[in-house]
Amino acid sequence: MVKNIQYLSQKYGGISRFYILSQRYFLISDVKFIEAIMSSTEFLSKGKSYDFLHPWLGQGLLTSTGRRWKNHRKFLTPAFHFNILQNFLPVFVKSGKILTEKLRSYAAQGEPVDLFPIIALTALDNVTESIMGVSVGAQNDSESQYVKAIKDLTNVLAYRMRNAFASSDPIFNLMSMKRVQDRALKVLHDQSIKVIEARRRQLDNMENSSPISEYGIKNKHAFLDLLLLAEIDGEKIDNVSVREEVDTFMFEGHDTTTSGIVFSLFCIANNKEVQEKILQEQISVLGNDMSNDPTYSDIQQMKYLECVIKESLRLYPSVPFIERQISQDTGNTSSF
Ligand code: HEM
Repeated sequence: MVKNIQYLSQKYGGISRFYILSQRYFLISDVKFIEAIMSSTEFLSKGKSYDFLHPWLGQGLLTSTGRRWKNHRKFLTPAFHFNILQNFLPVFVKSGKILTEKLRSYAAQGEPVDLFPIIALTALDNVTESIMGVSVGAQNDSESQYVKAIKDLTNVLAYRMRNAFASSDPIFNLMSMKRVQDRALKVLHDQSIKVIEARRRQLDNMENSSPISEYGIKNKHAFLDLLLLAEIDGEKIDNVSVREEVDTFMFEGHDTTTSGIVFSLFCIANNKEVQEKILQEQISVLGNDMSNDPTYSDIQQMKYLECVIKESLRLYPSVPFIERQISQDTGNTSSF
């Protein structure tokens, strides 16, 4: 699919039209056309491919639209602030150390290794602990029910996006894959609800527990607290809606970063000169003893590494396309 999309945009330029059965699609890759859609407050409906995510993510930010999206996006905006990452640095450092030890032992074996599943577990540890405030220890227990459920569900999603038959609900519902999806959903939803209910009980017994500090979010349960304490039209958000946002951040946060890290490593592995420059920068920031934990300001000084990651994301974007359903004219026909 990605190859076809690339082919169409190279052959026909910044905008082209194609049909899948009777459904008409416009493929837009030029910013001047994208702007008309993305800067509008009208075109918020997500495309059909997002439907596959509904059983897992319900009406979370990624899949919702209109008023619901606007309301939730408003109170979740602090969760997108860079400063939040400072709170979770100890989590990332802890996971990074486990990863480094694993990579060291793979390197000692001297055999080629598929990094995707290894990095996926690290990313999963990072998001579960920073979003739900609890550790699932995925890197040390890759066979746990929770890790297996995430793997099963992401496999089902990827399959449905590639296969025209499996993408149709009536056919999918008859497939054994539907049962795999149902089992995985039960494990994931039960886990999220358990954590949410426990934290809501704790918050009910506490006073003055605003999760927002001058630096953004402040405690270990930060993201969850932001959701549990938020109000829409004077009402607290119910547990199912909280669960949908938690699951959305869990999905978006681990899948995208895994691809980004793995593709960056792929680019770095293919470029010795870049490897050397990254190493020199690490030594200049951390000194020769790299067993010391990096501080947030150390990481901010790793400018060259940041350029390498951004360039890798440009060459191999974790999210190569997004989709919107448009039901009215963009009103910007002159630029078309
Ligand atoms: C390399 C890393 C990442 C990339 C490339 C990426 C890319 C994207 C893209 C392209 C969208 C827009 C989707 C659309 O509108 O259809 C999006 C939305 C979103 N992302 Fe990420 N993302 C990354 C990391 C993360 C992380 C770490 C989190 C959370 C922990 C996250 C949470 C979200 C959420 C909640 C949305 C929906 C936002 C909204 O509609 O208001 N993402 N991301």
